[in-house]
Amino acid sequence: MELNINSLRPLTGDGRRLFVETYGCQMNAGDTEIVVAIMQNEGFVYTDRIEEADVILINTCSIRDNAEQRIWGRLSEMRRYRRRKPSLLVGIIGCMAERLKERLVEGENGVDIVAGPDSYRDLPRLVREAGSGGKGVNVLLSSEETYAEIAPVRLDKNGVSAFIAIMRGCNNYCSYCVVPYTRGIERSRDPQTIVAEARSLFENGYREVTLLGQNVNSYSFGEVGFPDLIRMVAEISPLLRVRFATSHPKDISDRLLETMASMSNVCRAIHLPAQSGATSMLARMNRKYTREWYLGRVEAIRRYMPDCAITTDLIAGFSGETEEEHEQTLSLMREVGYEFAYMFKYSERPGTFAQRHLPDDVPDEVKTARLQQIIELQNELSEQSNRRDVGREFEILVEGVSKRRDDQLFGRTSQNKVVVFDRGTHRVGDYVRVRVTGCTSATLLGEEIFQ
Ligand code: 5AD
Ligand code: SF4
Repeated sequence: MELNINSLRPLTGDGRRLFVETYGCQMNAGDTEIVVAIMQNEGFVYTDRIEEADVILINTCSIRDNAEQRIWGRLSEMRRYRRRKPSLLVGIIGCMAERLKERLVEGENGVDIVAGPDSYRDLPRLVREAGSGGKGVNVLLSSEETYAEIAPVRLDKNGVSAFIAIMRGCNNYCSYCVVPYTRGIERSRDPQTIVAEARSLFENGYREVTLLGQNVNSYSFGEVGFPDLIRMVAEISPLLRVRFATSHPKDISDRLLETMASMSNVCRAIHLPAQSGATSMLARMNRKYTREWYLGRVEAIRRYMPDCAITTDLIAGFSGETEEEHEQTLSLMREVGYEFAYMFKYSERPGTFAQRHLPDDVPDEVKTARLQQIIELQNELSEQSNRRDVGREFEILVEGVSKRRDDQLFGRTSQNKVVVFDRGTHRVGDYVRVRVTGCTSATLLGEEIFQ
């Protein structure tokens, strides 16, 4: 009998327990699943109970200052766990690791391991180094790493919908944004590995995948562009829904809209971050489009898919924002009638173009007041959009049991709105046709249509 050399190799993990805490965006959630895959392969055992952990990794976000402040707070709490288990190793991974580097190992809350978004394959070695009394630090960014062949260990287990990272990094350099510095330059993942991952999810009962990247419209691998990739994934099965995020307005092409419109399992939902409604502000933000261009793209979306939901990101109080520019953001919101928006107060980030060259000169109380106006308007728009859906029919994909009542299920429409309805004989993962009978500001209520 042949010996399997691999099984004789001493594994770094040796049954030690790994806990990972994740902050920030969906990309980070996906990265955590890759990290767990890499560590399991080295003999670590994943636990979802922090008290049991021998190694704690914190996957961090740097997008706004308050995200980082939360993590500093969390680091000071780690002392408690260390006191209980002196052999415990604590690591910071992700964007904040990239931004602050060696500084994170210093001081009384200093950690043992620091790994940037492109050095996760090196984590077992970094843990080994930390375990033998040193500090494990690797924050090298790569122009090639996509973790293409690593099968993520799915941690958020609804078993129905999953995220697939199709690219990493960002080349857009919006003047306020730290992402190009923390996640490095843009690179696309081999489409064959993406399709294989989606197919394997489908075969394991998943019914929805969301293709993720900072700017999915600039996906490009050999001859394959984003519309081709969408088609390849959507052709796996008509029963597999396909979503994607995020689109940059400057790159969303008619070819993509045409492809979406031709395939009913590509969901009718586009996240199209506007950031601001004023052309002068968009120029300061280095967004590379005007208000008119943006509205032209919205019009194109509506032309190809009249029932497509459009959602957005907005920033209040960026450098030099005048009252008039703010008003233009509000008017853009009304003109588009967003279904949903993520809304933020501008937070200056070290190292960005804005921090180096543009003053953070909108007083905090003005930022707060403008953000409040944006939020109130969006609440109205979301409610109006929900009310328009009452009486309409939708096919929903069931994701789980309603939190309020266990004789009800919830699922999502193609437009990504949540609908709650009576369970009947249905199960998670089923497609059900419902008619919307009512709504709250956040949820649609529906009843099954029997035919
Ligand atoms: N301050 C506030 N919001 C920001 N975003 C990115 N950088 C900043 C910043 N410095 C927002 C943008 C982006 C979303 C992911 O976060 O709206 O689309
Ligand atoms: Fe940041 Fe702009 Fe890249 Fe989005 S597109 S990650 S906002 S630099």
